[in-house]
Amino acid sequence: MSTYIVTGGAGFIGSHLTDFLIRAGHHVRVVDDLSTGHEENLDPAAEFIEGDVTDRALMGRVVEGAEGIFHLAAVASVQRSNEDWCGTHRVNQAGTVAVLDAARAAGGVPVCYASSAAIYGDQGLLAIREGMRPRPMTAYGVDKLGSEMHATVAFGVHGVPTLGFRFFNVYGPRQDPNSPYSGVISIFAARILAGSTITLHGDGLQSRDFVHVSDVVRHLVGGMDALRREPQSLVLNVCTGRGTTIRMLAETLGEAAARVPMIQFGPARAGDIRVSLGDPSEAIHVLGLEARVELPEGLATLLPADMRQLMPGLAAQNSRKKPRRPANIVAPGLTGGIAPGVAEVAQFVAKAPTAR
Ligand code: NAD
Ligand code: UD1
Repeated sequence: MSTYIVTGGAGFIGSHLTDFLIRAGHHVRVVDDLSTGHEENLDPAAEFIEGDVTDRALMGRVVEGAEGIFHLAAVASVQRSNEDWCGTHRVNQAGTVAVLDAARAAGGVPVCYASSAAIYGDQGLLAIREGMRPRPMTAYGVDKLGSEMHATVAFGVHGVPTLGFRFFNVYGPRQDPNSPYSGVISIFAARILAGSTITLHGDGLQSRDFVHVSDVVRHLVGGMDALRREPQSLVLNVCTGRGTTIRMLAETLGEAAARVPMIQFGPARAGDIRVSLGDPSEAIHVLGLEARVELPEGLATLLPADMRQLMPGLAAQNSRKKPRRPANIVAPGLTGGIAPGVAEVAQFVAKAPTAR
């Protein structure tokens, strides 16, 4: 058993990661200020410290005795960074520095952290590779890029191993739909199911690479294994390599929920990226991991159980007595050698863990 820190562990991605680590037999210490996260998202077995990641003294105490840090706490909304520039910068960049500095002081604890596809900005229609020149278009993207640069320094100057994951657009159960700052899929799913109108900002032809949270957890866990085996500093995309326009997303969600979405158009958001499509090759090469959940299958994890049973293909998956063995084997370490895979997705589908 190891002790891992998960900052932002009461949030959407962090709570799924925490669940996985606890299931794998580890002790998890979560630091979260509950600004967008919820304590109900937390497994009762997690140790919870309510606090701010920018508090360097607190982070120094938190990382004591930890084998690894997953740093996910941030203001995750691009829109909010447009509106609260200073506040977002404090959390999204100074917060990362406080975590890295605490990792340094504790003797070089490895840090896997959330960067973002937002660092790329618009790169045209091509699938984006890690080597492309970053062109962030918002304060959010700049702070994530700045965090990556601080992480490079953390390794080069202080010997702290770091792995930054440039998540593309993550979705899944527990993504909070209750704010205009929430991820588009959580908003659309909640509104379509409630029979309410959804708003497409701009013409709705902007596209995103939507990746399911179970795939993101597999990358985080596999990444920590890799970092502990071989101390280094790198960044990797977490994406599917498939793009979906926001219009197409509304249509696909409508089909999954057997509803015709009611659509209105609103003003385009400032700094909204037109095409965001990732190339997953580098993560496949470095970690041997690849996002596997197709969008319709992933969207089904957001629907109530009775609706999912009716979906072709998924009914068969749900009724399977024994989950298939996870297909992805990574080297022994954090997970005891097995990263979450198909079985975990089947569990998401079967249990729809929207909240505790
Ligand atoms: P989330 O808002 O659900 O989770 C963020 C968590 O961090 C919340 O629980 C929040 O309360 C906590 N937090 C915020 N500020 C804090 C602070 N100062 N101190 C302590 N805790 C704080 O968002 P999420 O979607 O789970 O995002 C997790 C990470 O992944 C973020 O760094 C985000 O920028 C990044 N990311 C998310 C996506 C996505 O599509 N969801 C894509 C790319 C990157
Ligand atoms: C999202 C993440 C961000 C991450 C980035 C990586 C959230 C809240 N944001 O930003 O953390 O770093 O992906 O790519 O999780 N839209 C509508 N109608 C709505 C809501 C959104 O049309 O009601 C559109 C937006 O204008 C945008 C697209 O949907 O074009 C996606 O928006 P959003 O889910 O907020 O994500 P990003 O801004 O891409």
